[in-house]
Amino acid sequence: MGRVYIEELGKHVGEEVELRGWLYNKRSSGKIRFLLLRDGTGIVQGVMAKGGVSDEAFAKFDELTQESAFALKGKVRKDDRAPGGFELEVTDVRIYAIATDYPITPKEHGVEFLADRRHLWLRSSRQHAVMRVRHRLIKAIRDFYDNRGFVLIDSPILTPAACEGTTTLFETDYFDLGKAYLTQSGQLYAEAGAMAFGKVYCFGPTFRAEKSKTRRHLTEFWMVEPEVAFADLNDNMELAEEFLEYIVQTVLRERGEELKVLERNTTLLQNVKKPLPRISYDEAIEILRKKGVQFEWGNDFGGTDETIISEQFDRPVMVHRYPAQIKAFYMKRDPQNPNVALALDVLAPEGYGEIIGGSQREDNLDALLGRIKQHNLPQEAFEWYLDLRRYGTVPHSGFGLGLERTVGWICGLDHVRETVPFPRMIYRLTP
Ligand code: 4AD
Ligand code: MG
Repeated sequence: MGRVYIEELGKHVGEEVELRGWLYNKRSSGKIRFLLLRDGTGIVQGVMAKGGVSDEAFAKFDELTQESAFALKGKVRKDDRAPGGFELEVTDVRIYAIATDYPITPKEHGVEFLADRRHLWLRSSRQHAVMRVRHRLIKAIRDFYDNRGFVLIDSPILTPAACEGTTTLFETDYFDLGKAYLTQSGQLYAEAGAMAFGKVYCFGPTFRAEKSKTRRHLTEFWMVEPEVAFADLNDNMELAEEFLEYIVQTVLRERGEELKVLERNTTLLQNVKKPLPRISYDEAIEILRKKGVQFEWGNDFGGTDETIISEQFDRPVMVHRYPAQIKAFYMKRDPQNPNVALALDVLAPEGYGEIIGGSQREDNLDALLGRIKQHNLPQEAFEWYLDLRRYGTVPHSGFGLGLERTVGWICGLDHVRETVPFPRMIYRLTP
């Protein structure tokens, strides 16, 4: 039998196989030596006894250090006491590369020390669990929209104008054409897509030159943004709750082992099922005031406010109809009350805060033109976007879900920096 991965060992009990990977740990007791090999799919213990392998192979035990690359040949044995349920009776050891003084040792390290060595930190079992949850979540997100007939419309990363306000733009020179900006959101392009295909989504990296040093902010993060033609705010809320139920329940079902490694209590996550509670911004303020928070109508919720509001519910809560003055230029005003926008935020429980932001869009050309002027945005850069209101405008809605905040919430992490392979924050650009 040839080379296999640790996760496949169950299919090879009693067979001779080869495993390739890195040394996680080793120990010896008397004439028996144990090599713990990790290969990215799991960790398995190789056991060799003096006399059971060649002296040469037996001696390689002494050379191997933490994270040295090596291969083990041996017979797969079922062993319920072993982590993962299998062991390898080693018949041969082959060394690829000896690692000298691997900096991350089994002892506790400070998080900045680890973050500086993120390229190595990714090898640890905790980071494995997070990345495997992230990967599965991304697939669940795509499956949800793909199974519902949404067309994927990738949005550009280099853009000529702001989408979410001019204060958080990353700017770069763009040949003879002046300035380009890293996209803050693919929404405006998704709107064009919705008018072309009816229902679409974009899913990619987005950027905010955000000077926030909070546990929820990255300067580069991934966002999935569905956009639907002929959909109002209520339709948008229905889509959001079905979507959240699907992705959370899928990850709970498929990544239970990983969530155990992370010691995640999943009680509240099990509750993520529709219908989700819906409250207006005004009702949210009432909650804050009852809890003794002085809050003036027209302000945006801070992290602590969001936590207090979400603590009143046993699942994510949808907050709608925010003051128009704190929301983006493209949001439609409520015909019942022009001071509020038909906006939607979804707040996650347990203090994870806003994971979804969205709205019904302004579909009236003149209203949108006025809003662009009021927000001091350059009209020329938005002419193409205005065309969507000139040629067959319809009510339409969409939202954006931040991938990293969602991973952090599902995994129960206390900072988004662990939710992405290589985080970008105002004070971190490396590795
Ligand atoms: O609320 P935001 O800014 O909404 C938009 O960008 C809309 N254009 C989306 C749309 O309607 N298509 O961002 C949406 C979500 C937030 O709820 C949050 O989860 C995440 O993106 N997000 C961030 N995540 C990490 N770091 C940051 N700096 C983030 N800013 C927003
Ligand atoms: Mg928002």
